[in-house]
Amino acid sequence: MTATPLPLPRRSDSPRPEAFPSLEIDREQRRIEALLKTLRRQVSEDIREDRIEAPLLPSVAVELMRLTATTEFQLRDVVGVIERDQFITAKVLKTANSAFFAGTREVTSLREAVQRLGVVNVRDIVLAISFRSAILRDQRYKDVMTHLWEHALMCANVTRQIAKIKRLPMDEAFLGGLLHDIGKPTLVISLMNIEKALRERAGIQFEPGDYFQVVFDEFHEQVGALVASSWRLPSVCRRAIEYHHRPSEDAEHNPLVAAVHVADRLCYALDEESQGLTSPAEFFEEIVKVAAAAGLAVSAPEVDMLMRDAKEAHDKALAAFA
Ligand SMILES: [Fe+2]
Ligand SMILES: [Fe+2]
Repeated sequence: MTATPLPLPRRSDSPRPEAFPSLEIDREQRRIEALLKTLRRQVSEDIREDRIEAPLLPSVAVELMRLTATTEFQLRDVVGVIERDQFITAKVLKTANSAFFAGTREVTSLREAVQRLGVVNVRDIVLAISFRSAILRDQRYKDVMTHLWEHALMCANVTRQIAKIKRLPMDEAFLGGLLHDIGKPTLVISLMNIEKALRERAGIQFEPGDYFQVVFDEFHEQVGALVASSWRLPSVCRRAIEYHHRPSEDAEHNPLVAAVHVADRLCYALDEESQGLTSPAEFFEEIVKVAAAAGLAVSAPEVDMLMRDAKEAHDKALAAFA
């Protein structure tokens, strides 16, 4: 760091000098760096000591994950688990009848919904409803959480579409896309807890929201994998969560990991394109390249199809899960 020149002595009648902005900037910079170091150390310690708190899922969702992870269940078992929670039952029926899922006629019972949509779709609906209510429970960072939810939902749709287009046998496509960034809302809660503890114990005050991005970048895949284990998600979902930014590091080279990675990038690229930050041509080129690097051959016309579908399905999905 360069030395800051000492101030010249001033006469009492000289005009009041400006404050020394470079000194102020240096001090602020050092404060931010020290705080970041503390946050990194604290989050790493929470991970190591198993103190990360996963967002709380309703017991129905946890039980449904446990049940559907086995092969020995019947339709009535699935119905029996869901109907224990009236709120979720009502939401499942509403979602099953929405434009996003609806078939030719309205379903009026849970049994019918499970029969018509299938166990996997109903499990996905229950998880999506539960995930949304778990992360939107706290009002403090509602905008951040809403943004994370909307990105998750769009990524879930795109992953499912990639699975369909590429004929990948993937029951977990929607779930993997939906939960790929589950580490982020978890870290929001962690940072709020850390801020409270530092304020109370050491009088250190800061705005957690200022540090979300840097902590997300560093820890969200690792923390997401911990949440996946605590929620008992299928192991392929856990891998998609852990490796969605670096699919080549997935030792199993599971196509779901690659599909979630491509879907995630497509959602970001779509966002940039809609803001006019990239041209459609750049958008197509980028996604084709990203997919090839992840081991999925996706052509430009397929990207076009995915893009159109993503926009249309997203509005329907948002309305379905509202
Ligand atoms: Fe991510
Ligand atoms: Fe993402």
